[in-house]
Amino acid sequence: MKILIFSYTTRILHFLFATFILSSYLLSDIPSLLWLHSTLGIAALFIVLLRVIWFLFGEEGAKISSFDLKYKSLKYYILEYFCFKNSKIRNPAASYSAILMWILTFLVGITGIVFIGAKYGSGLLSFLYFRDIDPHFIKEMHELFGNLLILTAGLHVIGVIADNYLKQSGIVKTMLDGTIKVKAENILPFSNSKLTAIFSTSLILLFILYLVSYRDNIFFNTQVSHNDYKSLAPVMYAECKECHVFYPPNLTSLQTQMNILNNLENHFGTDASLDNKTLALIIQETKLFGKIKSQYKFEDLENNESITKTEQWKHFHEEFDDNWYVEHKIKRTNCKACHIGFEDGSINPFEIK
Ligand code: HEC
Ligand code: HEC
Repeated sequence: MKILIFSYTTRILHFLFATFILSSYLLSDIPSLLWLHSTLGIAALFIVLLRVIWFLFGEEGAKISSFDLKYKSLKYYILEYFCFKNSKIRNPAASYSAILMWILTFLVGITGIVFIGAKYGSGLLSFLYFRDIDPHFIKEMHELFGNLLILTAGLHVIGVIADNYLKQSGIVKTMLDGTIKVKAENILPFSNSKLTAIFSTSLILLFILYLVSYRDNIFFNTQVSHNDYKSLAPVMYAECKECHVFYPPNLTSLQTQMNILNNLENHFGTDASLDNKTLALIIQETKLFGKIKSQYKFEDLENNESITKTEQWKHFHEEFDDNWYVEHKIKRTNCKACHIGFEDGSINPFEIK
């Protein structure tokens, strides 16, 4: 007799979870898609939240009672692989790996949120931007947990394949259609509510829609790293925006900024000189900026040397080649064309056009 053990909801959560963590992982190395990586990661975190609720209060085949979490069972499962008889719906390895993956997803998610808070002043923990936290260390933790998560997922998949082909358990089919063959006739099938499945799937899709369509959402919002230069440095803002975007003064060192200001007659091939009074005001404004926190300081530049010639800049923009700029009719130095918050001194992956 065939009975149902995994409801629609359980199966949908399972496959969405797998899809999100895998795609998030695959995108993690593409800087311009960091927002998508984060979106998928937060969606995975959201699924874990739903799954834990499901684990405690949900349908029978998803609940804690369907997991075999006895240490002894795990030991016998490994030592006596071929004779081991499951006492629960899930074998001990599947039970442990599921819970381990939830915990790791939680840790990956939290370290991700701490990282974007500390590094970019983005999201739920944006206040960390003003604390003395080393984003690099957080990033390493994030990557470590991420790798462990993918490793666990990989072992889980190997386990499933082994179970399916070596033990002929038909588990792959069970994961897809939710049913399993049993001998006993008196076991009742578990509930399989379509309504709950539709509700939980819609909840997840709506959550993703919110993250994607409203980029200024609570997870990515970056207000704290914006400086209102228009009122902080009104003279500079007015004068230096005449020919190009406003280059925030604390993007480079004070030294570089002073070089530029002291050499305006010979300014990147043009004469941008100002009268002495205006220049003095701008210099005064510039000196105040040493105190304003900047996410990035480009190395000291020689006179009339563009930021775009620095190794730092080239490294961040490796993915665009010369043709790209020609095709899209964008100048490298027009930072604002891509970095929406640029004139406020804010550069981060969540504000990319
Ligand atoms: C008369 C026009 C003009 C004015 C006014 C002007 N600039 Fe420029 N500036 C330029 C040109 C032209 C470039 C080269 C731009 C390019 O390559 O896209 C440039 C480049 C720059 C760059 C280098 C950007 C990079 O590639 O790294 C900085 C920084 C800069 N200007 C700062 C200022 C500041 C500060 C002021 C105000 C004191 C100012 N500019 C006023 C014309 C001007
Ligand atoms: C063609 C679009 C484009 C232009 C023009 C551009 N950038 Fe970028 N920049 C990107 C992308 C995409 C990234 C990678 C996403 C990210 O890391 O924010 C990036 C990354 C950066 C980063 C690293 C951010 C981080 O995540 O650590 C800095 C700093 C930066 N850009 C500065 C500048 C400056 C300064 C200019 C102008 C001189 C500039 N960019 C012009 C697209 C652009």
